Amino acid sequence: MDSSSIQPATVHVPVLPQEVLQWGAAAAEQTWVDGTAGGGGHCRLLADAIGPHGRLLAMDRDSQVAEKLTKQLSASATVVHDSYENVPEQLSALGWHTAHGILLDLGLSSDQLADRQRGFSFQSDGDLDMRFDTSQGEPVWKWLQHVNEKTLADTIYQFGEERFSRRIARRIVETRRTEPIRKADQLRELIYRCVPRPRSRGPRTSPRLDPATRTFQALRIQINDELGILKRALARLPACLEPDGVLLIISFHSLEDRLVKYAFRDDPRLQVVTKKPVQAGEDELQANSRARSAKLRVARRSDSP
Ligand SMILES: C[S@@+](CC[C@H](N)C(=O)[O-])C[C@H]1O[C@@H](n2cnc3c(N)ncnc32)[C@H](O)[C@@H]1O
Repeated sequence: MDSSSIQPATVHVPVLPQEVLQWGAAAAEQTWVDGTAGGGGHCRLLADAIGPHGRLLAMDRDSQVAEKLTKQLSASATVVHDSYENVPEQLSALGWHTAHGILLDLGLSSDQLADRQRGFSFQSDGDLDMRFDTSQGEPVWKWLQHVNEKTLADTIYQFGEERFSRRIARRIVETRRTEPIRKADQLRELIYRCVPRPRSRGPRTSPRLDPATRTFQALRIQINDELGILKRALARLPACLEPDGVLLIISFHSLEDRLVKYAFRDDPRLQVVTKKPVQAGEDELQANSRARSAKLRVARRSDSP
């Protein structure tokens, strides 16, 4: 595979690049899957490692991302717009069936966060959409129009670990009686009125976390069924690995990391390779703040398919 055709038309910086190469040990002529191709950063590294006779399937659930990647990666990868839980179907459709390695780098990319129209960022004034695949389901702002208060509070609590979830849910339900909460900045201001601002110092607050962060994370996870998809993929993807093939998963919050940790530990087809999650070193942390919460876990297929 030749990565020279991949243009850096992205602001996204891939996390743990050296660690992915080290623990994945992608080698010439192998078949690899990048299930969350995003800005194509990890794809480029994998394409270089597997060389011109390797095969790379690059998937993304976001059609805009997949369209961009198709233009950038056509010489190096087969790009498909689909969810990573469907890796088995996509590998079969290509006649490849199994892979030496599968990489998932969960969550959203800096490109998506920076796109004001998508509503992922509480710093934007775009519509609160937050869907990765805008051809499916409903945008967050529509869901906020009809979800009942208890479900909303539970979602914000469970997926955002937000202790002011009940207050935020109540305020959303009160506000929507008179006007829809359609814009990201509208929701941010509503949250600010429910959650105390973090102090710069203090034992119980993080100086860095904006009060809207947890609620926005919870709504994104909910509207995209992110944990449901991850659970289904964890059950399905080991069967797509070659003997000794590796599954690498990078997660960004404890809900995902916990699912990955226990699925790897409890799956009789897998052997855990990383006893503890691999995290970014000082140099990467200095250069890329997104790497702060990234955790990489790796498992190897150890049964005989
Ligand atoms: C953190 S970014 C990946 C960045 C990429 N590794 C790189 O180096 O540029 C996560 C990507 O996963 C995509 N994504 C989210 N859920 C997905 C799913 N279920 N299936 C496939 N892609 C998904 C998002 O659209 C986003 O582009």
